[in-house]
Amino acid sequence: MKFFIDTANLGEIAEAQALGVLDGVTTNPSLMAKEGITGSENILAHYQKICDLVDGDVSAEVISTDFEGMVKEGEALAALHPQIVVKLPMIADGVKACKYFSDKGIRTNVTLVFSAGQALLAAKAGATYVSPFLGRLDDISTDGLNLIDEIRMIYDNYGFQTQILAASIRHTMHVINCAKLGSDVMTGPLSSITGLLKHPLTDSGLAKFLEDYNKGNQ
Ligand code: E4P
Repeated sequence: MKFFIDTANLGEIAEAQALGVLDGVTTNPSLMAKEGITGSENILAHYQKICDLVDGDVSAEVISTDFEGMVKEGEALAALHPQIVVKLPMIADGVKACKYFSDKGIRTNVTLVFSAGQALLAAKAGATYVSPFLGRLDDISTDGLNLIDEIRMIYDNYGFQTQILAASIRHTMHVINCAKLGSDVMTGPLSSITGLLKHPLTDSGLAKFLEDYNKGNQ
């Protein structure tokens, strides 16, 4: 399972990268705005900084909602750095743009996916990644994990190569359950990754080991 961090914060990206388990980064316009990154030149420069920090894929989202605009933006993003994956919204023009990029060998991440049918369309259009937003489904009392399960079954039935990128992850149990269901990738906040470290028995066990060692090794 690949671990992506869902942020545009360079400090958090560096911290996750330093842990040695980071496989990539996802961003979106809200996350860029949260870091105060505005204006196309600054946005492109920020993507470049993210690519310099991590070894893996960096999803960069288009703002256009029409096919021509998405193609223009996506081509500029893809040309910026080989690690860039063009992130496209799950709308008709996004599906067309996904097929266009897939035919050209440019990698894509189809985002804002909330149903199995949308995931099927993304796979048929040749998406590299599909991003089902499980946290946002949970927010409206709908089982987000069930969507991951459905997509896994459909992709396996037909051998689709599109990778399931479980998005809108909120906590460690989302990560663990997505791993059980065979999600290829998860993207979440730093806390959803570092939270996996924590167990009180690890802490008390380590304290005891050190205490016992120190008794005989003063
Ligand atoms: C995924 O690519 C999105 O950036 C993200 O996971 C959305 O998460 P949120 O629902 O916490 O905003």
